[in-house]
Amino acid sequence: MIEVWKPQDVEASIAEMQDSGRHVRVTMLDPWYNKGVGGVRDDYEDYIFKLLEGVAEFSDHVFLWGFPEIVAPFVKRMPPGHKLVAWLTWYYKNNPSVIRGWRSSQNACLHFSKPDAKLYPEHFLNAAQEALKEKGKLRYMPGPTSVIESALLTGFVGRAEQTGHPAQKPEAVYEPLLMMTCKPGDLVFDPMCGSGTTAGVCRRLKLDGILCDMNPEYTAMAERRAEGAPGRAVSDEPPAFDLAGEIPPQVTEPKNSKNGYVPTGKPRGRPRKNAVAAE
Ligand SMILES: C[S@@+](CC[C@H](N)C(=O)[O-])C[C@H]1O[C@@H](n2cnc3c(N)ncnc32)[C@H](O)[C@@H]1O
Repeated sequence: MIEVWKPQDVEASIAEMQDSGRHVRVTMLDPWYNKGVGGVRDDYEDYIFKLLEGVAEFSDHVFLWGFPEIVAPFVKRMPPGHKLVAWLTWYYKNNPSVIRGWRSSQNACLHFSKPDAKLYPEHFLNAAQEALKEKGKLRYMPGPTSVIESALLTGFVGRAEQTGHPAQKPEAVYEPLLMMTCKPGDLVFDPMCGSGTTAGVCRRLKLDGILCDMNPEYTAMAERRAEGAPGRAVSDEPPAFDLAGEIPPQVTEPKNSKNGYVPTGKPRGRPRKNAVAAE
């Protein structure tokens, strides 16, 4: 079963989960990333650590999402009683180009778990490997890679899945995380759920879910996905900016650039209407 709680602050959701005494297999924490959409807070590190402390009380596994430089401090500031299992990377090639500098193409996700929490690499075996395992001939358990490649849901890419949320993750990115850590019937908690990507994956993997977000527009999206609706319920327009939670690029890519790379000279191309400065 997938529940979407009424809109409330993440700290209220964590307190409610603590009070419930329920055991959570996985908490997915995907806050705003302290730049771009969602704004900046000076106490970001302490704030996120407080959330990690809260969810550590009831979660076997915790996933913390952000840009690499945003999650990096938490390699050293882990949720109490948890260890770092892996630094995961979501790699996407299709971020709209900025003319100068590096074109951002990754999000990071730290996987923490209690020392005795189970992992299920066997959930990723193909039919041939399953057959070998049955015969006792699988010599090692091949795990999935820690880099997950999946396109940003932007423009016409993944259009059926798009909800209009400005930082929606593809279900293909969340799915391996929950496959690695859950078996059917386990409970997943996502207190900053945005469009409800977790709900879509929980449905497919037959997991229970509790989702919440402070924004009622987003809890409504999550409710629809919990009921099995694909995206596109809110808006038929592609989102106004890229979906990794970043500020939109300042300018459009010039026609003569190759893969967004322009070797020298002034940026060309017209600024986007209402564009704000890129990173
Ligand atoms: C990066 S987005 C999550 C995107 C989501 N994983 C998805 O795939 O759609 C961050 C979300 O955190 C929510 N959020 C930010 N601050 C919050 C708070 N204090 N309490 C609850 N939700 C919050 C935002 O409304 C936003 O939807």
